[in-house]
Amino acid sequence: MDQRLSGKVAIVTGAGQGIGKAVALRLAREGADLAVAEINCETREVTAREIQSLGRRALTHPVNVGCLAEIQSLVDHVVAELGHIDVLVNVAGIARTQAFLEMTEEDWSRVIGTNLKGTVFCMQAVGRQMIRQIPPEVVAQGRADRSYGKIVNFSSISGRRGRSVQMAYAASKAAIISVTQSAALAFSPYNINVNAVCPGVIPTPMWDQIDRDRSRLMGAQPGGALKAFVDKVPLQRAGTPEDVAAAVAFLCSSDADYITGQTLNVDGGFEMN
Ligand SMILES: NC(=O)c1ccc[n+]([C@@H]2O[C@H](COP(=O)([O-])OP(=O)(O)OC[C@H]3O[C@@H](n4cnc5c(N)ncnc54)[C@H](O)[C@@H]3O)[C@@H](O)[C@H]2O)c1
Repeated sequence: MDQRLSGKVAIVTGAGQGIGKAVALRLAREGADLAVAEINCETREVTAREIQSLGRRALTHPVNVGCLAEIQSLVDHVVAELGHIDVLVNVAGIARTQAFLEMTEEDWSRVIGTNLKGTVFCMQAVGRQMIRQIPPEVVAQGRADRSYGKIVNFSSISGRRGRSVQMAYAASKAAIISVTQSAALAFSPYNINVNAVCPGVIPTPMWDQIDRDRSRLMGAQPGGALKAFVDKVPLQRAGTPEDVAAAVAFLCSSDADYITGQTLNVDGGFEMN
């Protein structure tokens, strides 16, 4: 595999399972050292061991991305151990599936607090560090001479249109498209690229839960909600975590140096805008 990320240090949040784990392993295969930033203590250690078995360095850090103090502690730990941060992938996220009229204030706060607030404040803390890494004479010129960092956020096809039974989730993912554009503009003088991906239907532990909840709401058997979505995918299959990881690795690499503020659907054609 091409070593497009050789010498780079990447933080991947939510890297304990599902898409985040696939992203962390893909970046490691492309040469990056990794910080596995994950709330689950068991899964983050498993991911780190798999990265180390690929010959890359991996540190684990317990983090709830909804907590600013924990985010800063993550950044400080990564810089102390690995020296610098070149890539941030904000994968950590949660979904709640319930009828519109049943959503509680707690559901709303939890989903927005993890998905949207977590993404924003991880970008802020890591962005500050990426800017600190730019030589002062380059900052003084007011225009960075090369890319000084890559950030990739996780939106969703649910960020492209509303969802009657996942209102908070869809709202958080739509807002991630907006904050990706805002951060891309804010970081453009430093030549830090900020982009997002919208995965489609990717069977993972998250989708297992969504399928159970949506199928129940539809009055369908387990698997019914997943099938209903996959039937609408033009490429006629669900995606894999590796499909998404390949797109993320591209956006983290110098092949994407002239791309910023964009949100890429990785969904087999489910959405086309
Ligand atoms: N699976 C899909 O079909 C799909 C589709 C579109 C978007 N997405 C998005 O992709 C991302 C990954 O999805 P997935 O399906 O792999 O989910 P998943 O639930 O399988 O994995 C999410 C990971 O994030 C971690 N996490 C959750 N809250 C956290 C927090 N507060 N701090 C740190 N870590 C936390 C979990 O412990 C878990 O390891 C999410 O942002 C999700 O919204 C997934």
